[in-house]
Amino acid sequence: MSPTATVHVLNHPLIQHKLTLMREKDRSTSGFRRLLNEIGMLMAYELTRDMPTQPIEIETPLEKTMGRVIDGKKTVLVPILRAGLGLVEGMLEVVPGARVGHIGLYRDPKTLAAVEYYFKMPDHIDERDAIVLDPMLATGHSAVAAVTRLKAVRPRSIRFACLLAAPEGMAHFHSVHPGVPVFTCAVDRCLNDHGYILPGLGDAGDRIFGTK
Ligand code: URA
Repeated sequence: MSPTATVHVLNHPLIQHKLTLMREKDRSTSGFRRLLNEIGMLMAYELTRDMPTQPIEIETPLEKTMGRVIDGKKTVLVPILRAGLGLVEGMLEVVPGARVGHIGLYRDPKTLAAVEYYFKMPDHIDERDAIVLDPMLATGHSAVAAVTRLKAVRPRSIRFACLLAAPEGMAHFHSVHPGVPVFTCAVDRCLNDHGYILPGLGDAGDRIFGTK
């Protein structure tokens, strides 16, 4: 891994508790989605820890005072379709001013390589801090392709956020994008022969949308 590559493992007890519940194979679709929303909120808290704030004068019921506010509009959440959508709602709960761009990629079942089919970003992307969302950093092919594509439109900064990362995927991701920090709730053991994370949680998209 490059010496500049950063991985933040979000090991807050609330995140770890909810993640464990999500991993269970008998968790219902609605339960899985609710937990993902909640984890999305908690992840947003960590992802925005160093977000710039500006001073603002306000009036309390008693007197004028100075406070600080963030400019949520400067953040762009970029879910990789479709599983990345599962993290958007929770994050928007806590950063309601964020814009949302979308990147559509599918995994070629034979090569596992990522193929782009959709790309739409908000205006003034050069002034925005992008958070790319995909619950699973598995082979890293989709994450690498998404960040490569996003870099071409030059957002102010890029972070990558996932629920689970495989060591192989993280190594691949950081070999191509060493300067993009990864925020993950856990680093799992390895990938299986089909590119699934072990122990993992199965197919995130299917579990979010109830398609299996
Ligand atoms: N995508 C998933 O949804 N799950 C995995 O384990 C790997 C990739």
